[in-house]
Amino acid sequence: MRLDYVTIFPDFFAPLSLSLAGKAVDSGLLSVAVHDLRTWTTDRHRTVDDTPYGGGAGMVMKPEAWGAALDAVLPAPPARATLVVPTPSGRPFTQALARDLAGREHLVFACGRYEGIDQRVLDHAATRAEVDEVVEVSLGDYVLNGGEVAALAITEAVVRLLPGFMGNASSLVEESHEDGLLEYPVYTKPSSWRGHEVPPVLLSGDHGRIAAWRREQALERTARRRPDLLPPTATGTDWTIVPAT
Ligand code: ADE
Repeated sequence: MRLDYVTIFPDFFAPLSLSLAGKAVDSGLLSVAVHDLRTWTTDRHRTVDDTPYGGGAGMVMKPEAWGAALDAVLPAPPARATLVVPTPSGRPFTQALARDLAGREHLVFACGRYEGIDQRVLDHAATRAEVDEVVEVSLGDYVLNGGEVAALAITEAVVRLLPGFMGNASSLVEESHEDGLLEYPVYTKPSSWRGHEVPPVLLSGDHGRIAAWRREQALERTARRRPDLLPPTATGTDWTIVPAT
């Protein structure tokens, strides 16, 4: 997989050379490049933003430098890339979207600042033969100062799904969100710590009971913390959790 980041803060991406993507780059699974948007400005002040048409607060990122940056960073046809644009007005980032992106050959992240990027940049990109899709994506219902931290989070969620990246593939299957539920609580040694005991069922060696207990815990946790993840019948007042036998 190839990853490109266009940003006015390239230093934000220094962590990419640490644990996560660093390992994947070393193993040849990933190639990564970070680009300073100001490289493609043409004025003395290297201006990337201006006031919004129609008025309003804040500044909008100008289209010219973005257009030139994408001209340079997108692949040559017939190769195609997916343009990922982190924005609080995007579609929610989910494990399903992470899996979708993990299946793509080339992701280009366009990291906006201020009030966002002039919409024409994204509309134009969507018409280009070198772009298979423009995905505007939000990490959640809160506002960050820019797309950089979101791009890093998206990258981590995607890269760990690449075949051959994670040592233990079953830990991928069992974690939160892979089965639509939050993960059950986990414990390790010692079995007693500061007066808190590991649930005895986990010491029983009975794999059937352990699996049933974990499922029950996952359901209960999901119902309590994220009822929106459960089907409607399970979120009304009439649902019950069937205890493990
Ligand atoms: N940029 C600013 N806020 C964001 C958010 N919540 N998700 C993704 N990108 C953002």
